[in-house]
Amino acid sequence: MFSRELLRSFKNIQTPFYYYDLDLLRNTLKTLSKELDTKSFKVHYAIKANANNIILEIIKNHGLGIDAVSGNEIKKSLEIGYSNKDIVFAGVGKTDVDINYAINNEIACFNCESVEELEVINTLSLKLNKTSNVSLRLNPNIVSDTHKKITTGTEKNKFGIDINDLHNVLIKMNDLSNLKLSGIHFHLGSQIGNINVFKKLSQIANKTNKRIYEYGILLNHINVGGGLSIDYLNPQKNPLSNFKDYFNIYKENIKLMKNQKLYFELGRSLVGQSGFLISKVLFTKKSYNRNYIILDAGMSELMRPSLYNSYHKILNITSREMINKKYDVVGPLCESSDVFIKNLKLPTSKRGDLFCIYSSGAYGETMSSNYNLRNNIKSYFSDSI
Ligand code: LLP
Repeated sequence: MFSRELLRSFKNIQTPFYYYDLDLLRNTLKTLSKELDTKSFKVHYAIKANANNIILEIIKNHGLGIDAVSGNEIKKSLEIGYSNKDIVFAGVGKTDVDINYAINNEIACFNCESVEELEVINTLSLKLNKTSNVSLRLNPNIVSDTHKKITTGTEKNKFGIDINDLHNVLIKMNDLSNLKLSGIHFHLGSQIGNINVFKKLSQIANKTNKRIYEYGILLNHINVGGGLSIDYLNPQKNPLSNFKDYFNIYKENIKLMKNQKLYFELGRSLVGQSGFLISKVLFTKKSYNRNYIILDAGMSELMRPSLYNSYHKILNITSREMINKKYDVVGPLCESSDVFIKNLKLPTSKRGDLFCIYSSGAYGETMSSNYNLRNNIKSYFSDSI
């Protein structure tokens, strides 16, 4: 994967850093567009996955909109040049400041998660003399096969409005004259491997769409969120997600009414595989029969393993020796959970070797922190390295 020239360049860069393969990103987006292939489907990129300017530029150039969850995400998207009409605003706890910012910028739609939120957006819109488009984020209580910390669409999650309360919410909407109900929104969770669950979601979306039509409202769109998984186990073999089957499920199961659009909010599947965390071995040691590799990257650069026990493929990209030893690969932070992986078979590794942690393009850099007062992590791009 990494050429000798690239490895030589890596050696001249202060570690740890993120490296982004922009050809892979472009190829992912090209494949996405090819498989989307319908005028009634539109993808809003979930900017929370990766908010790097260069990545946002490339995604914009492929014609995607933005799914934002804060005023700052909206601001950044506008600065990069996304149209306000291509930005949707989600989130279970929007602040008044962010809501006002979004109203003033006349974004495409608020995805609302409670009656109280609807009331507040209505009041603030009235004050600003605007009418705001809203979509109801409904919690359909569907269990999907993903990690419990990243599932969102079940009765046990804080997200969305209980779908059984739809009638009351629609009645309430009649009092909220500065809102226009323009859609319904769902998001079952992230890193969903078994995509059959999206068939069930389509059926619920169809039923809800029809039900709302019976109240005399023709929605502008149905938003089915994101959640398509990437292959963390074999990122080199499968760098692209299965966009074809994913969109086909919706093509076969969603029934759109006249002029309606189907919105998607994909994050991980667009950027996940094009990001790599590059780190250097600070020290190696043996303690109580365990071999440790202590990297200069840790949970402050990539939090996923310590937060969710998530697996990322890890390779020593310096050593070409035979794989002959088992190591715990850990970070340098003062936390016992600052571990990337235990018992990983690797070549004998030494101080100064470079390591690559794959599939780090989504929820890597955006979730990084300065814990232990560490430096902000920098990023480098294949176009300019
Ligand atoms: N739409 C909504 C409303 C969401 O909450 C999310 C992700 C997405 C779209 C994008 O989902 P994706 O296509 O990326 O699966 N930090 C976790 C993931 C948290 C996902 C949060 N919401 C991780 O590192 O796995």
